[in-house]
Amino acid sequence: MHEGNLSFCRIMTGKKGRQWRSMCKGLILGALLTSSMILVYCLSNPQIHFSLPEVPVPYSCARSSSQLHLKPASNRSQTNTKRSCSPKVDIMFMKTHKTASSTFLNILFRFGEKHQLKFAFPNSRNDFLYPAPFHRSYIKDYKPGMCFNIICNHMRFNATEVAKVLPTDASYITILRDPAELFESSFHYFGRLVPFTWKVPGDDKLTEFLLDPHSYFDPGGFNSFYLKNLLFFDFGQDNTLKPDDPRVDERISFISERFQLVMLVEHFEESLILLKEALCWDMEDLLFFKLNARKGSTVSKLTPELRARALEWNAIDWKLYQHFNRTFWKKVDAYGRERMAKDVAELKKRNKEMTSICIEGGQAVEAGRIQETDLQPWQPIGEKSIMGYNLKKNIGNAHKTLCRKMLMPEIQYLTEFGVNLWITKLWGHVRDIINW
Ligand SMILES: *[C@@H]1O[C@H](CO)[C@@H](O)[C@H](O)[C@H]1NC(C)=O
Ligand SMILES: *[C@@H]1O[C@H](CO)[C@@H](O)[C@H](O)[C@H]1NC(C)=O
Ligand SMILES: *[C@@H]1O[C@H](CO)[C@@H](O)[C@H](O)[C@H]1NC(C)=O
Repeated sequence: MHEGNLSFCRIMTGKKGRQWRSMCKGLILGALLTSSMILVYCLSNPQIHFSLPEVPVPYSCARSSSQLHLKPASNRSQTNTKRSCSPKVDIMFMKTHKTASSTFLNILFRFGEKHQLKFAFPNSRNDFLYPAPFHRSYIKDYKPGMCFNIICNHMRFNATEVAKVLPTDASYITILRDPAELFESSFHYFGRLVPFTWKVPGDDKLTEFLLDPHSYFDPGGFNSFYLKNLLFFDFGQDNTLKPDDPRVDERISFISERFQLVMLVEHFEESLILLKEALCWDMEDLLFFKLNARKGSTVSKLTPELRARALEWNAIDWKLYQHFNRTFWKKVDAYGRERMAKDVAELKKRNKEMTSICIEGGQAVEAGRIQETDLQPWQPIGEKSIMGYNLKKNIGNAHKTLCRKMLMPEIQYLTEFGVNLWITKLWGHVRDIINW
């Protein structure tokens, strides 16, 4: 059926070719979405949930701390000479959308490999059947009673359910981003997957939408959550509540109690230093390159007026962000502003060193200029705006593996971990074929 549409689309050239082409793309997308919805539905058949016995706290979790080979505190790290703690390895990372979380995931993957930790990975794709609320049966090879060290792929959070696969003292961590910027990014990245945006006229759909969101937005529409309070939705909450609904504050308090650390994209290095402090990690564990960055993303695309509108439209996320902005800076104060500045400078210096060791040309390049397919990042539908890197040719043995891992995009890294991503990859191939 898709093949048929396709050749029809190819034949249509000439004056109306373009219009036809975009209509065809719409048709194909519709057909694909329907088929993938059916597929997802079959795979996530809720019936299987009821057959899983309830295990209050996974018994296998009790063993997890003994996996750790504690290093003597004396020479673990130069920066923390007097440290007597051991690194925390049980981690729930709530991966929110469009929040530099791929960069953080790469940090977690490397930490997990270093300590040989057990990850709860999804099956067939790189998320836990998002946007369905998380259920433990979505974990690859899950059997009742299983316990994991780290769970970190995209999910729609369900605290009760997540608690069933992690030790009770696991550290819950997440990351937030300024909701106006997040909205802009989400609109860019997911807009075409949200059918109600197809009827927004003009080239600048974002502006058009924000001028009168209520006339376009359809709360029941397919994928509509991508374009309203996406953060709050990711935390498993109702993203269409009125911002002054008492449930909003209630849920924010709940998230506040559940998560030990809420990082901020805008202060990524500071966030990592707080993480190091909270989890007793080493500075080495925090090294990173910015992955999945969008071309020209350093400059905000929002005028002050649009920004105000975006915040008003995503008022719950704005409340959430402001709340955790306050707690973030309280933590920085407790850590010590000067000490923080010193540590951030140190981390930046080390990242810079790694850049000169690993990266050809010292910076990210456009997708077309990435030589290795292994280092090719996942692209949003319709364009190749996500940048990637080329590995230097002659990296010494001491850094070869680290450089490669630091640059490896999420999908490739998951494949290395043995996660079968056939649904994600199939979707990618289909997009390649129709040259999306
Ligand atoms: C830590 O100290 C021990 C003994 O003093 C030494 O054998 C070991 O190599 C040191 N480890 C590191 C990472 O420096
Ligand atoms: C979350 O999980 C619990 C059981 O673990 C379940 O009772 C509840 O319905 C789930 N919530 C949602 C929104 O799916
Ligand atoms: C976050 O908190 C800092 C420090 O209190 C403040 O200067 C800043 O304006 C806040 N940012 C937002 C977006 O609320």
